[in-house]
Amino acid sequence: MSTTTPVRHFLLDTDLSPAEQAEVLDLALAMKADRYGYRPFAGPQTVAVFFDKTSTRTRVSFAAGITELGGSPLVINAGESQLGHKESISDSAKVLDRMVSTIVWRTYAQSGLEEMAANSRVPVINALSDDYHPCQLLADLLTVREHKGTLAGLTMVYLGDAANNMANSYLLAGATAGMHVRIAGPEGYLPAEHIVAAAEARAAETGGSVLVTTDAAAALAGADVVATDTWVSMGQEEEKEARLQLFRAYAVDAEAMRLAAPDAVVLHCLPAYRGYEIAAEVIDGEQSVVWDEAENRLHAQKALMAWLMAASGLAELESAT
Ligand code: CP
Ligand code: NVA
Repeated sequence: MSTTTPVRHFLLDTDLSPAEQAEVLDLALAMKADRYGYRPFAGPQTVAVFFDKTSTRTRVSFAAGITELGGSPLVINAGESQLGHKESISDSAKVLDRMVSTIVWRTYAQSGLEEMAANSRVPVINALSDDYHPCQLLADLLTVREHKGTLAGLTMVYLGDAANNMANSYLLAGATAGMHVRIAGPEGYLPAEHIVAAAEARAAETGGSVLVTTDAAAALAGADVVATDTWVSMGQEEEKEARLQLFRAYAVDAEAMRLAAPDAVVLHCLPAYRGYEIAAEVIDGEQSVVWDEAENRLHAQKALMAWLMAASGLAELESAT
């Protein structure tokens, strides 16, 4: 283990600089083209993947991706370890980093991830928290790049629960990529000021821009990318009935799509609730790229894991083929 290179973590979208985000996306494309050619976890090394919330895509894409990188995934579900309830996060980190090469964690509080990272000598990756879903955004940006050929200068719109983890990550990752990010939701469900400020700071570096509004039609005008997410995130189930009413004016339906550019692509991180945040005819229609987006979780996270290991001085980044 290197003692000179500081370990790199990925707890939120801005943990990668604009140049680093582009490097990870380039590597993801190279890995997609040469699927079994990269082996930074050869040995095999183990990667611990913790889930405090449920998952299909994140679980499978990390498990498959770690295996494809030559490693062995150890998936630990809520209630199966001592982490967080019988043992502190910092003590857990100090044990884990002696045994595994990377720690991946889906949890509630962002502060838990920060505590894990502060005490770990191996990379810690946020696999979704209440505040951010940065791995999803790498996959989303990869998908847009594949379909549009570029990211900088494109207008990306997110409608719906504009205070949730996906809205925050669209703001930060989109601004990092030099995109014009527009976020629309109802009053009281808009991104926190510190997140908007961080996105604006990134946009000033990259030539992108940020707009937060309650006006869905204004946000949609001429958009190149239209994204949405569930109106009821994990942990909000008790608010379900109220939430299904709150966000109705922000549904991505055929009428909304008529305001976007005619060649706009549609993103949804999934799972999707047809007839609520997205109409069936939109998600199952020709502009939808959601299945490519889901597949790209695999390629984007493989690139991220390999890149973090290399940037931390823990692995080499070359393809064996
Ligand atoms: N998009 C996403 O993170 O899906 P899962 O909750 O199934 O992992
Ligand atoms: N905002 C959603 C994303 C699911 C992948 C949630 O946190 O439940």
